[in-house]
Amino acid sequence: MLSQASGERPLRIRAVTEADLPHIVRLDAEAFPADPYPFFVLRQLLTAFPDFLFVVDDGKDLRGYVLSTPPHDAQSWILSLGITPDLRRKGLGRQLLAKMLAHLRAQGTHSVWLSVEPGNDSAVALYRSLGFVPDPGGPRSDYFGPGEHRLLMTLAL
Ligand SMILES: CC(C)(COP(=O)(O)OP(=O)(O)OC[C@H]1O[C@@H](n2cnc3c(N)ncnc32)[C@H](O)[C@@H]1OP(=O)(O)O)[C@@H](O)C(=O)NCCC(=O)NCCS
Repeated sequence: MLSQASGERPLRIRAVTEADLPHIVRLDAEAFPADPYPFFVLRQLLTAFPDFLFVVDDGKDLRGYVLSTPPHDAQSWILSLGITPDLRRKGLGRQLLAKMLAHLRAQGTHSVWLSVEPGNDSAVALYRSLGFVPDPGGPRSDYFGPGEHRLLMTLAL
């Protein structure tokens, strides 16, 4: 059980189920309003990697999610992390990501990578607080297409 509660409802982190898909689509659009994953991409990621998607469940609704790849050559990528706006800054993002990192370690991942929009100070601070270090070369220009620069960060497990 998580240390934070949503009103009277306790929160827990659990593995994803097929029925969660529309809720994850909503959470993703909430977290990344300018550029959410299309429904079909989330459908395929959930189907391909069901053991690498965790959600925060308050018993009635989903309040956060984290998505990674399984290890390939002992390397995994965090593909997405989002917490519903009204529950941000309460430690949930850190707990959710820490849970995924522990899972990845147990699955044989030795290095974790992610990309973050360079101006996303809260996400960069969260990743730094868990030990991620930024690519020494700085943000990669046009990493996700024209004008979409991204900072790569990595963590050795
Ligand atoms: C990034 C996000 C997942 C963080 O989740 P969260 O539950 O709010 O984060 P936490 O409360 O666990 O914060 C952990 C640490 O992150 C940093 N942090 C989080 N929010 C911050 C903010 N608004 N300003 C500054 N630092 C912040 C702090 O270092 C914080 O530690 P502290 O509270 O001990 O100072 C959340 O803000 C979110 O969903 N944002 C939209 C989607 C997004 O940007 N995802 C990441 C894309 S790469």
